[in-house]
Amino acid sequence: MSEHEHNPFPDEGNTGHIWDDNLRELANPAPNWWMMAFYASIAFVIGYGLIYPMIPLTDSYTKGLTGWTAIGEYKAATSEVEAVRKPYEDKIAKMSAKEILADAELSAYVEASGKVIFGDNCAACHGTGGSGNPGFPVLADDDWLYGGSIEQIQTTITNGRQGMMPKMGGQQLTDAEIDKLANAIYNGTVTKEPLFTSKGCMGCHGPDGKGMAALGSANLTDGIWRFSEPDQLASIKYTIKHGVNDGSDPETRKPKMPSFKDKLSEQDIKKMAVYVYKFGGGK
Ligand code: HEC
Ligand code: HEC
Repeated sequence: MSEHEHNPFPDEGNTGHIWDDNLRELANPAPNWWMMAFYASIAFVIGYGLIYPMIPLTDSYTKGLTGWTAIGEYKAATSEVEAVRKPYEDKIAKMSAKEILADAELSAYVEASGKVIFGDNCAACHGTGGSGNPGFPVLADDDWLYGGSIEQIQTTITNGRQGMMPKMGGQQLTDAEIDKLANAIYNGTVTKEPLFTSKGCMGCHGPDGKGMAALGSANLTDGIWRFSEPDQLASIKYTIKHGVNDGSDPETRKPKMPSFKDKLSEQDIKKMAVYVYKFGGGK
């Protein structure tokens, strides 16, 4: 028995699908606005496919009439940036770090463009803006282990640095002597402490206790701490007892500034020297 023979509403244009006596599906056309949107979206897809890359093929894709690609747009934008940078980079290549520093325009350029290189290579250890981290020296002050001239900073970055101080605990110094020296250093009076001379500290830290740039030996008189810790007196005792990079003591401090000779171009190292100098502490 076909549904149509039992259609109780034969003239209203329903589809003939009827449930529960009178619930039925009508065959009305979709509203005009809906059909227009439907055709417009088809037109859009065709138009889009004509202009832009669209359909993936086995090992290629439909390229579109304009040849536009996202990577092409990106490359065009970066080559614009490079074109702006090129005259500066060309000049920098021919100049020493010191000459760059003396040129207001170029050093402003390095200050602006060096941020990314510093962020990628240095900030993890030295903090954003060279503000330092526990165990890693502040680069933004004028207290230097290895000297703050532009040439010294450049040498530090190129070759790396690793301060050496022999452990003094055990045979060299008794605990009482370590206490005496540590307190004198903590109070800024180390040069008046006879042990400073008799135990050879001054050989590296200098007769005035201010350190020597060639060795990276810290200034022991200025109250700025290379190994800054909440209990500073204990930190000083620890350094004296275990030394720095002394391979014979497993508890020695192990600071190491890596060499960037193979990691950064000479150009970028030059820029970093200027960039660090311009944190304000260069001298
Ligand atoms: C893995 C950690 C680390 C990274 C990365 C690092 N440094 Fe260092 N840097 C150190 C340590 C540790 C010292 C101190 C070395 C010492 O005590 O002998 C130091 C010292 C320095 C000094 C000497 C500071 C002074 O007082 O004389 C400069 C300048 C410096 N770093 C610049 C940089 C720059 C610029 C970068 C990035 C290109 C960088 N560092 C990346 C760990 C790092
Ligand atoms: C062979 C050279 C050498 C001798 C000898 C030496 N030091 Fe040092 N000392 C260093 C160096 C280098 C550093 C810094 C290491 C670094 O930061 O990489 C240092 C760091 C220190 C520090 C850490 C300072 C801070 O700011 O945290 C103290 C404290 C110290 N020395 C005390 C002494 C005392 C006391 C003596 C003598 C008993 C002595 N040193 C002998 C080379 C030496």
